Amino acid sequence: MNDDFLPFAKPSISPEAIAEVTACLESGWITTGPRTKRFEEMLRDYLGAPHALACSSATAGLHMALLSLNLEPGDEVIAPAMTFVATLNTIVLAGGKPVIVDVVPETYNLDLDAVEAAITPRTRALMPVHFAGLPVDLDRLYAIAEKHGLRVIEDAAHAIGAGYKGKRLGSFGDTQVFSFHPNKNMTTGEGGAVTTRDDALAARLAKLRFHGIDREAWARFGKQGSPHYDIAEAGFKYNFMDIQAALGLHQLPALDGFNQRRGELACRYYGLFADQEALTLPKPQSVDYPHLHAWHLFAPLVNPEAVGMDRDSFIAKLKEHNIGTGVHYRAPHLSEYYEKTWGYQRGQFPIAESISDRVLSLPLFPTMTEAQQDRVVKAVRDVVG
Ligand SMILES: Cc1ncc(COP(=O)(O)O)c(C=O)c1O
Repeated sequence: MNDDFLPFAKPSISPEAIAEVTACLESGWITTGPRTKRFEEMLRDYLGAPHALACSSATAGLHMALLSLNLEPGDEVIAPAMTFVATLNTIVLAGGKPVIVDVVPETYNLDLDAVEAAITPRTRALMPVHFAGLPVDLDRLYAIAEKHGLRVIEDAAHAIGAGYKGKRLGSFGDTQVFSFHPNKNMTTGEGGAVTTRDDALAARLAKLRFHGIDREAWARFGKQGSPHYDIAEAGFKYNFMDIQAALGLHQLPALDGFNQRRGELACRYYGLFADQEALTLPKPQSVDYPHLHAWHLFAPLVNPEAVGMDRDSFIAKLKEHNIGTGVHYRAPHLSEYYEKTWGYQRGQFPIAESISDRVLSLPLFPTMTEAQQDRVVKAVRDVVG
């Protein structure tokens, strides 16, 4: 057996990015400043977004975007049952009620029939998640939103670089939030960005991410700056650092290449697992619209009958073979907080629960070699026996 532990995800950081971080550290300006500005411009150009605002994480971006809806107690935001808990937590933190809907088994993306059925007079926004980087059917989603006068905040944490009907996510629609966490398709250490067409929202986010102050710190401390500022509203400390931007300036130009390699490896997994009954593979080919999948995750379901053990035992066995995996995700409504505070229970979202109980993320990252991928496939076969 190979002694090297193969992680399920690994960032690709180039020597140029490391040199840029060093240059930033040596420059005397390491927090929000000129590199952040350049990174935001680069992101705006890459995505074709009217506004792109970098912030400390996607969670921070979701929080601020939702807060900008000025939700009243009892106002509802609809989100999928299969997602990371940040999607739902930020609805709560912004004062809303998280209304969870089930997902479809083929793609783990939210079920748009269930979305329509969940709309009430208190619904204010829809929050789709582009699971694993596969875009939700946005024409249909936006048609539903328009019909009911709802805002849309796309949780695009998995989907930087993904496309829908020939357009990049972020270049159309209402508001999108991307993540640059180290496991994501590109990274700035931690970090995120909000893109929007809404000028007022962009102006508000620019203040909210830094205490509600009406000017960036570097505009105050520079040679031409004035040290004085006013407070527009009580804001957060959600700003993005130039150290992060130094990484981002080199990650973004490499992103399409990273995503292409992810797609090639995912495609190879489909071939290698074609005759494998232990795993049910996701079916992105089931969607009938043209799209560009970002392949953030390769997340099949374990079939306990075929494997003779449950998902967690399967993960433990793969670990014995030095293969790392992830669980994306345990459905958040099954956690203590969402059960106790919001009254959700097992049984309400059977598709998401089945995914939650059986899903595992297999290694997938741009520098993964075919030999490493073959190790994953061999380990699965060895464990299944
Ligand atoms: C669907 C989804 N939303 C939001 C987030 C939060 O991203 P971040 O870690 O940048 O706050 C994640 C991170 O894993 C995610 O997967």
